[in-house]
Amino acid sequence: MRLDKFLCEMNIGSRSQVKVFIRQGTVTVNDTPTTNPDQQIDEFSDRVAFRGKALQYRRFVYYMMNKPEGVVSASRDNTARTVVSLLGKDAREDIFPVGRLDKDVTGLLLLTNDGDLAHRLLSPKKHVDKTYRAVLEHVLLPEDIRRLENGLDIGEENLTLPARVTVLEERIILLTLHEGKFHQVKRMLQAVDNQVLQLRRTAFGGLTLDPNLAPGEYRELSGEELEALRKSGGRKQKAQEETENET
Ligand code: URA
Repeated sequence: MRLDKFLCEMNIGSRSQVKVFIRQGTVTVNDTPTTNPDQQIDEFSDRVAFRGKALQYRRFVYYMMNKPEGVVSASRDNTARTVVSLLGKDAREDIFPVGRLDKDVTGLLLLTNDGDLAHRLLSPKKHVDKTYRAVLEHVLLPEDIRRLENGLDIGEENLTLPARVTVLEERIILLTLHEGKFHQVKRMLQAVDNQVLQLRRTAFGGLTLDPNLAPGEYRELSGEELEALRKSGGRKQKAQEETENET
């Protein structure tokens, strides 16, 4: 990998900024100062330091965020604040949110630069579980619950897949889905003549929203959480994993 790309991925600055830093002599490779941004390094075995501080390369990063209201689930947006901008110093250029929550929806959002895992988690074939806590306009009738759980027409080609409803309070439910269609929860509730007043995602693919995260806060996934997530998205073929590790 080129030295300037490595420093960008480590979030030291933009490509043009890191070139300047390198030319200023602030970077060492294996304790030797270098001023050449094009220098090829081995990101796994070479020791790179910026202003005397060693940089530990990590190919993939995984964050759990408690998405706040009013922020869009995107990496970049011309007008609105994005979830990636909330990562501050951790906002590597290659990070993106895994799927979308509507601007007014809060709760668990995964952010990563692992495109392969994201692809598997979002694949309609994998039926990854997503649980939402919804505050409703009206009380659900037993017939509504039956329809939500059995599958109903929300204007798509097929009925929604069977879901699970847990009534928490009179007008507050948990709804667990095994698919992720556009505005799905809101459309399902509309289909039973109800309205979602507030929506928060509490679980996704074996992860549960950390109650210590205030809206807008995030943290890295633990090893166990990452393993649970990988299980829910299905593992890729071993040969593919080995090829990736070599690149
Ligand atoms: N269902 C919705 O209606 N909106 C979301 O953001 C997620 C699920």
